[in-house]
Amino acid sequence: LNAMADDINLWQKSTLNSILQKGELTVGLEPGYMPFEMKDKQGNVIGFDVDIANEMAKAMGVKLKLVPTAWDGIIAGLLTGKYDIIISGMTITQERNLKINFADPYISVGQTILAPKKHAGKKWSDLDKPEYTIVTKIGVTGEIATRKMFKKAKIRTFETEADAAQEVLNGNADGLVYDKPYNAIFFAEKGGDKLVHLSDELTYEPLGFAVRKGDPDFLNWLNNFLNQTKNDGTYKKIYDRWFTQ
Ligand code: ARG
Repeated sequence: LNAMADDINLWQKSTLNSILQKGELTVGLEPGYMPFEMKDKQGNVIGFDVDIANEMAKAMGVKLKLVPTAWDGIIAGLLTGKYDIIISGMTITQERNLKINFADPYISVGQTILAPKKHAGKKWSDLDKPEYTIVTKIGVTGEIATRKMFKKAKIRTFETEADAAQEVLNGNADGLVYDKPYNAIFFAEKGGDKLVHLSDELTYEPLGFAVRKGDPDFLNWLNNFLNQTKNDGTYKKIYDRWFTQ
């Protein structure tokens, strides 16, 4: 009897229950991370994560509300209840996982390097020299990898991935360390004869939806949602829309 009362109590406190009660799923995400979330010309947030979030809300039978949030405060925003979930290409790191929970990975990526053309054919370690500057974005796994791997090169960090990538394009830096999908798109759109994508993955990074701790009911729903959509063709349809094979 006590165990049953505990289960009911847990469900009453579940974010999933509150989403159903209010008829709305709120999603924290930081636009600028192609192709997961970015702004179109009209300023609408679009991308792989947005389509997944839409599918999720549809499966719950609720409306979707996106809550654009700076990366810097994105975990704090979840913890203080500004949104129900983070769907923002977030890498499941052991450190983040101490504070928040993650559903099973929905995709995995790795860090790669976008560099000026003159570095074509080089390995990451060839760029770890005092005369070179490596750029990345503050607070992301790219920064963690850069600080761990690059011991001799100068390191500069930027608020946005776009500003960091621009530095490389302008010839002011020798490499951007960032998630492969972003680098691949930036290279395809702006690389031309200026850049090279050193696309060997330097890290293994599973990305996951993040939720507050202590909510097994929400996690259970998310993992079953993932399993269903990954096996019934829904996930693939969305994936193919944003990732070129
Ligand atoms: N995967 C990287 C990380 O978790 C970068 C994610 C950046 N996402 C974003 N929406 N800006 O640190």
